[in-house]
Amino acid sequence: MAPVRIRTVFMLSLLTFSLSLSKLAFSLTENEALLKLKSSFTNAEALDDWDSRSSPCVKRWAGIICFGGLITGLHLSDFGLSGTIDIEALQQLRALRTLSLKNNSFSGQIPAFNKLGALKLLLLSHNKFSGQIPDDFFSSMASLKKVWLSNNDFTGKIPLSLMTLPHLLELHLEGNQFSGHIPTLRKPTTVTSLDLSHNKLEGEIPDSFSKFSNVSFLGNQGLCGKQLDRDCSSMVVESLPQPAAEEKKESAGSEGHTKLAIGIGALVVMGILFIATFTGRRKDKGDDFSILEKRNTR
Ligand SMILES: *[C@@H]1O[C@H](CO)[C@@H](O)[C@H](O)[C@H]1NC(C)=O
Ligand SMILES: *[C@@H]1O[C@H](CO)[C@@H](O)[C@H](O)[C@H]1NC(C)=O
Repeated sequence: MAPVRIRTVFMLSLLTFSLSLSKLAFSLTENEALLKLKSSFTNAEALDDWDSRSSPCVKRWAGIICFGGLITGLHLSDFGLSGTIDIEALQQLRALRTLSLKNNSFSGQIPAFNKLGALKLLLLSHNKFSGQIPDDFFSSMASLKKVWLSNNDFTGKIPLSLMTLPHLLELHLEGNQFSGHIPTLRKPTTVTSLDLSHNKLEGEIPDSFSKFSNVSFLGNQGLCGKQLDRDCSSMVVESLPQPAAEEKKESAGSEGHTKLAIGIGALVVMGILFIATFTGRRKDKGDDFSILEKRNTR
């Protein structure tokens, strides 16, 4: 009997030990993930309190948002950070929902944030990100509510997948170099805040944006539509200013000629009428007689 009991106790303690070990390993993974992320940054002085000997949620590391002991947000705005962003490390933060990297010095192509499919908020404003964003980049991020890419150096078309996000509330793309036509917004009713100003967008503003005022579109030379008080059919004429100006001169000239012609014509008609009334009075009777004569001869 005794050896059996000993074996059971041993097995149970082994089980608890391995369970606590795996728990420990999990929390270490999140902790390590953050340190791995930190090591991918340069100029990370602002993250000095990110330290392997403490816990991010208990010690409240700078920029870490926790809920129920889980890391739900990384708000690393205004930290002067640059370097690369370790997306694999971010993927280890299973509860991560909000990511703000506003006002840092990150540059280059947009990192693969689209591997973080549960994000609700992605704020990248005031960095130096550049290059084109693939059309389908955001299609794996259906939970996104706020997307701020403003004041970077992004080029190319506005990704189609941004405009089809089902829960989108805020879309800020101002101060980039986005070009081409604005794609139609799939669900305009959800969006409460939109800024596409100061880019290189062109063509007609789609009807789906009718509830947004001129402020959302200013600073795009090639854009036209009701909001901007710029008629899209006149945009074609405006782009060919010289022929339009000549046309105006010509029409003004012919208008002058017409007026002159009408004036002369009126004078001539008045003259004829004047002469006709005087000469006509004399001939009146004779004319009547001659008609009568002609009728009688028939
Ligand atoms: C950006 O961050 C710096 C500190 O890194 C701060 O001095 C500056 O005011 C911030 N700018 C904006 C626009 O928030
Ligand atoms: C934007 O629209 C408002 C109201 O319609 C108007 O008062 C304002 O002048 C417009 N701004 C520009 C820059 O066109």
